Amino acid sequence: MRLDRFLSNRPDLNRQDARLHLAHGHVRVNGVPTMDGRYEIREFDRVELHETLLQAGKPARYFMLHKPPGYVSATQHPEHPTVLDLLNEPDKGDLHLSGRLDLTTSGLMLITNDGHWSRRLTLPKTKLPKVYYVETADPIQPEYVQAFADGLYFKFENLTTLPARLDILDERCARLTLIEGRYHQVKRMFGHFRNQVMRLHRESIGPIRLDSALTPGDYRQLTADEIACGLSTQTINAVP
Ligand code: URA
Repeated sequence: MRLDRFLSNRPDLNRQDARLHLAHGHVRVNGVPTMDGRYEIREFDRVELHETLLQAGKPARYFMLHKPPGYVSATQHPEHPTVLDLLNEPDKGDLHLSGRLDLTTSGLMLITNDGHWSRRLTLPKTKLPKVYYVETADPIQPEYVQAFADGLYFKFENLTTLPARLDILDERCARLTLIEGRYHQVKRMFGHFRNQVMRLHRESIGPIRLDSALTPGDYRQLTADEIACGLSTQTINAVP
């Protein structure tokens, strides 16, 4: 909600009062005098008028989790444990997953209560590279590299996948960088060559890398730098 609206919604202030308080610099957001009524107030902002606290601002929370296989990327599931079961945090109902991984996939998951932040990370136009380590049943052929770079046609969605980068590491393992997240995308891309994915592990999302100190099931808070790179995400048009 805009700051001017937030102020004038209070029973003790009308629109004129709100405008005057703003113009005189009486309103502080997160400790900073703010005169722009168009400022979008979020639930995490602390808002004060003179010495009166109007909104305390709840803490924004950001975590990275090393998802083990066998956990569902959901907040609740009738059959399987969920990734949220791995968190020992209060108010877990406020948290949501920023992107998903299949039941059998392991690796980096981001979890937060900041919807604005996670939307920026997952918006298709952000085109944030996601890096996966892949092991397959059959040898990975050199022709996959060009096919993945050109894009593969997915009949169900009637679309061609965006250019993806495949680095073949060994006969049956590779690193794949995608800038989108279609349903079962990695498995379907290898499935195009009738090559089954046996192991799939997400190593990074944009500049945020899974911390090698985290064993499967562990998690930690994101650092200020990691949070900031999510917020300053720019549209990246090409796979690096
Ligand atoms: N692609 C898949 O096939 N599965 C995942 O979990 C992520 C990407």
